Amino acid sequence: MTVTASAASRAAEILSRPVALNGLTVPNRIAMAPMTRMFSPNGVPGEDVRSYYARRAAAGVGLIVTEGTYVGHASAGQSDRVPRFHGGEQLAGWAQVAEAVHEAGGTIVPQLWHIGMVRQQGEPPFADAPAVGPSGIRVDGTEGTGRAMTRGDLDDVIGAFAEAAAAAERIGFDGVELHGAHGYLLDQFLWARTNRRTDAYGGDPVARTKFAAEIVAAVRATVSPDFPVIFRYSQWKQEAYDARLAETPDELEAILAPLAAAGVDAFHASTRRYWVPEFDGSDLNLAGWTKKLTGRPTITVGSVGLDGDFERAFQGEGASVQGIDNLLDRLERDEFDLVAVGRALLQDPQWAAKVLGNRTEELQPYDAQALKSLS
Ligand SMILES: Cc1cc2nc3c(=O)[nH]c(=O)nc-3n(C[C@H](O)[C@H](O)[C@H](O)COP(=O)(O)O)c2cc1C
Repeated sequence: MTVTASAASRAAEILSRPVALNGLTVPNRIAMAPMTRMFSPNGVPGEDVRSYYARRAAAGVGLIVTEGTYVGHASAGQSDRVPRFHGGEQLAGWAQVAEAVHEAGGTIVPQLWHIGMVRQQGEPPFADAPAVGPSGIRVDGTEGTGRAMTRGDLDDVIGAFAEAAAAAERIGFDGVELHGAHGYLLDQFLWARTNRRTDAYGGDPVARTKFAAEIVAAVRATVSPDFPVIFRYSQWKQEAYDARLAETPDELEAILAPLAAAGVDAFHASTRRYWVPEFDGSDLNLAGWTKKLTGRPTITVGSVGLDGDFERAFQGEGASVQGIDNLLDRLERDEFDLVAVGRALLQDPQWAAKVLGNRTEELQPYDAQALKSLS
């Protein structure tokens, strides 16, 4: 354990400051990273999901970003245990999640998700829907069994995101996060390897960003002007950890500028290790560059409080506790605005309370067993 008591009080001081995301004031700088848990049979988040999130809000997480939740398009997902963000029963379950998090003093946004060409085997109720993506090409570069999206498909998916965002506002959420990361549908458009389109949605980075930007604009037009729209993106992809969307800040700006112009209020820059500089010649990480290039508030993420890569969690590996001095230095310099915590919060619902309350000696190492239950 490398966390010291003095670092912990500094942590409390720096992490306790509220921060505004459009019309939302998040009470502190700690966010829960979106983590798929697959504990929602029939796509309905139940009492156990509700208390899982509320427990973390009660212990001081300022902003919960929910696990990815499918938008209302038959090809959006594949598991019947991943919560859906459409349908009466499903939205009623989500409304109760939002209410419980608010009662616990937190704020909450759903992460709206379409998996695109990652879809392989559909489960009911959409067992027969095809995988769809920009060019019918999977993240590993192979041609899957899916198909390139038609104009009609594009419109349907844009509409599905807008409807889900409207539902989020209607049932009491504080904003939405659009999942544009990790090789799922929106990212498949952003990435040249999976986007080979020759129409207006493919080609240079600006054209590849057009679909995501249209989704942002449709969401923006549907929700209230002060309702925050967060966009999560990454360089890396599931199945392609070394992939990069942008090799230089200029290339990154070509992608981020249209998204910001379309109405993104905050970016969530997903990296696996927050301390890794994104481009040569600067210490800034991806969130730091995002803030510098767009002027928007940003959320950083990646191995906060832990040493050991998160992808190894899926192979059953744990990770030990690591100090957060470097993170606090960066927050103090305003390199980014919020810090999302994944595995450490999955392992320990009390993580935020311990960090904010000068109890860092109680922090727990991550054990992949934590994936098996919703504690
Ligand atoms: C079990 C698990 C499920 C995840 N599911 C999602 C998800 O639904 N959406 C998403 O954007 N990222 C997802 N991620 C990535 C996390 O949000 C986060 O970026 C990653 O775990 C790195 O943070 P950490 O090192 O603090 O765990 C998942 C990660 C884990 C461990």
